[in-house]
Amino acid sequence: MTTQQTQTQSPDLAFPTGFVWGASTSAYQIEGAVAEDGRGPSIWDAFVASPGRVLNGDNADVAIDHYRRYREDVRVMADLGLSAYRFSVSWPRIQPTGSGAINPAGIDFYQRLTDELLAHGIDPWVTLYHWDLPLALEEAGGWPARDTAKRFADFAAAVHAALSDRVTNFSTVNEPWCAAFLGYASGEHAPGRREPAEAIRAAHHLNLAHGLATQAMRAQSAATRIGGCVNLYAITPHTGSEADLDAARRIDGLQNRFFLDALLKGSYPADVLEDIAPVAGTSFARDGDLEVISTPLDLLMVNYYSRFTVSGAPGGAASAAAAPTDTGSPWVGSEQVSFVNGGRPVTAMGWEIDDAGLLEILTRVAAEYPAIPMVIAENGAAFEDVVTGDESVHDPERVAYIDAHLRICHAAIEAGIPLQGYFAWSLMDNFEWAWGYGKRFGLVYVDYETQRRIPKDSALWYAENIKRGGLRAPAE
Ligand code: FCB
Repeated sequence: MTTQQTQTQSPDLAFPTGFVWGASTSAYQIEGAVAEDGRGPSIWDAFVASPGRVLNGDNADVAIDHYRRYREDVRVMADLGLSAYRFSVSWPRIQPTGSGAINPAGIDFYQRLTDELLAHGIDPWVTLYHWDLPLALEEAGGWPARDTAKRFADFAAAVHAALSDRVTNFSTVNEPWCAAFLGYASGEHAPGRREPAEAIRAAHHLNLAHGLATQAMRAQSAATRIGGCVNLYAITPHTGSEADLDAARRIDGLQNRFFLDALLKGSYPADVLEDIAPVAGTSFARDGDLEVISTPLDLLMVNYYSRFTVSGAPGGAASAAAAPTDTGSPWVGSEQVSFVNGGRPVTAMGWEIDDAGLLEILTRVAAEYPAIPMVIAENGAAFEDVVTGDESVHDPERVAYIDAHLRICHAAIEAGIPLQGYFAWSLMDNFEWAWGYGKRFGLVYVDYETQRRIPKDSALWYAENIKRGGLRAPAE
């Protein structure tokens, strides 16, 4: 290779060798085939069937038909040059009622998917829980019931036993904040309950489930890496007033520290315990739970999308988690906090774009918690995508969003933060929970009528960066 070629091909911002260039999905959002091969119903199947819960009455019975089209989808990933693919395992495919005998057809699907990935040189990253709780477990009390955490550890151990000969990276619960507070406090997500005290119990049991599963998997093999996955937000007080500073402390406490402190320090933040006590009391955790929850991890998986600007003064929007349907507040014990427009450009979700916030949270985790390698397990944006006459999708805003956040990743690494990889959310357009098919996050466009996959400009751009091992300097 000549010097000239080296120069044109080399990136201006090079990422370390071995940096993981990935994309993420989750089972319920893509698989479809909800009644196939012995899969049982999940809380999301029940939720989508309940009128008014999901925009336009959309459901995920077919979704993007990935269960049948997984080979084609792995080819799409290989064409992009992904080094890793993060997907989740559907619990009700493995245990149709959430406990007891393992359904071999369910295991078989994930083994075939994994083998297909490996055959294409793509590293499989397995998430064990991305919100599709078996319905039978919800009927037995759901996440507010302590027993659900034990059931989860059994399920995790079974999946780990079946896949750990070919999968290195496992993570436990995706975004416990959402599963607990959108599921049981605001009711925006399945199971759609609005019971704030139960939401705190759910949050604790999701943390406990994480810890028990981590221990169960560790006991089976020391060779796999286990991660916890949290969604973190940068948070700013609207003004320097005491009320706004207190609002920022409260939302940071519930969103970020309740999970980070539990997983990485083995304690719940005292101020958050005080905030929630009037609603949820203080007896949701038993002696020894936090020790289990803080079982040492190999990896922290960080999902990052946006920044909240918050105020303690009345009058702002009630919640940043603007749902398409009427819901309660997810902010248990801090319902009075309002969310203020921070004046930044927004995505189609109305989420403010703030790449600087990513550096802020990575720096903070590195500074305030025991040392732990990190990856960005989700980052991305919804925009109104349109297929043009020549079968392309021009999505410059998504390119700009991902580019900006990857630059932050590069800066974080330069600053010595142990960031090992980046997974874009999402590989393909899919079922976006309460928004149904109304919001597109994919690098790859999916025509929901024909199931045709069309790589968007952002996918092609991402592929170039992967090939180059880094980013080019922005055009002058
Ligand atoms: C995250 C979820 C993921 C997707 C993105 C947009 O909170 O983990 O499933 O919905 O948001």
